[in-house]
Amino acid sequence: MSKRNAAQTPPPGDRPIKTLERVLSRAGLGSRSEARRWVGEGRVKVNGRVEGDPNRWIDLERDRVLLDDRPIEKQEHVYLLLHKPKGYLTTYRDPEGRKTIYDLLPDRQQYLFPVGRLDLDTSGLLILTNDTAFAERLTNPDYHVPKTYLVKASTHLSDEQLDSLRRGVELRDGPTRPAIVTRVRESGGRTVFTITITEGRNRQVRRMVEALDAKVLKLVRTAIGPIEIGELAAGATRELTRDEVDVLRR
Ligand code: URA
Repeated sequence: MSKRNAAQTPPPGDRPIKTLERVLSRAGLGSRSEARRWVGEGRVKVNGRVEGDPNRWIDLERDRVLLDDRPIEKQEHVYLLLHKPKGYLTTYRDPEGRKTIYDLLPDRQQYLFPVGRLDLDTSGLLILTNDTAFAERLTNPDYHVPKTYLVKASTHLSDEQLDSLRRGVELRDGPTRPAIVTRVRESGGRTVFTITITEGRNRQVRRMVEALDAKVLKLVRTAIGPIEIGELAAGATRELTRDEVDVLRR
C-alpha cells in the first residue's frame, strides 16, 4: 500500500473513525485547510494534549477534541433533507464552475456536508448534516441502510431480468447484495421499477442495469430507510424532524 493510501485508510474496526482535520471541518467550524492551519498553530488538543498531526485518526465516540480549549462536539447539529434536482453536482465547489447542491442551500453558518452522493444526473433525496457520527453510521456499509430508487430503464426488462437484480448481479467490484425490486409500469417499451439496495457503491444502480444490457434513463432516490422524499419540490430543503433523525440513528 502506498504511503498516501496508508495515511487515508482508517484502522480496521466498526467504530466511527476520521482524521483530525475532517473532524474539525465537519463539525461546522471551517474548511479542511483552515483545520490544518489551526492544528499547525497548536490550537487543537486531543485528550488533553496539543496535537500537531492533522492526519491523526480520531475515534468520534471516544476521543475528546478541543479547539482553543473549547469542545468541538458542542456544535448544534443540523439535519437537512434536500430534493436534489438533476444537473447539480454533489460536491462543495466545482473547478469547472458547474452548479452544485450548495447553490440550493439556504444560507447557514455551519458547514453541512452530504451523507453519500448522488450522480449529476440522479435526482432525489439527499441528507446534509454537520453530525459526523450520524453520517458515518448512515454510510457505513456494515449498517446496510436501505436506499430506494425509482428507475426508468431504456428497454423492457423481463421478469427474469428483474429477478437477477433481486438475487444480485456481478459487477467489476463484486456481486451486489440481494435487493427488493418492484415493477411499476411499462411505458413505450421501457420498464419503470423501484429498487431498494443496502449498499452505496459508486453508480451502483446504473451499473446493475447496465449488467442487464440496458441503460438508466431516469434515476430518482425516493427514500433512505423509512424517510421518503414525499411532496418536497425539486430544489427545496426541509429539516429532518427529531423522530426522523432518531429512526435513522437506529
Ligand atoms: N446509484 C447510481 O447509479 N447513481 C446514484 O446517483 C445513486 C445510486
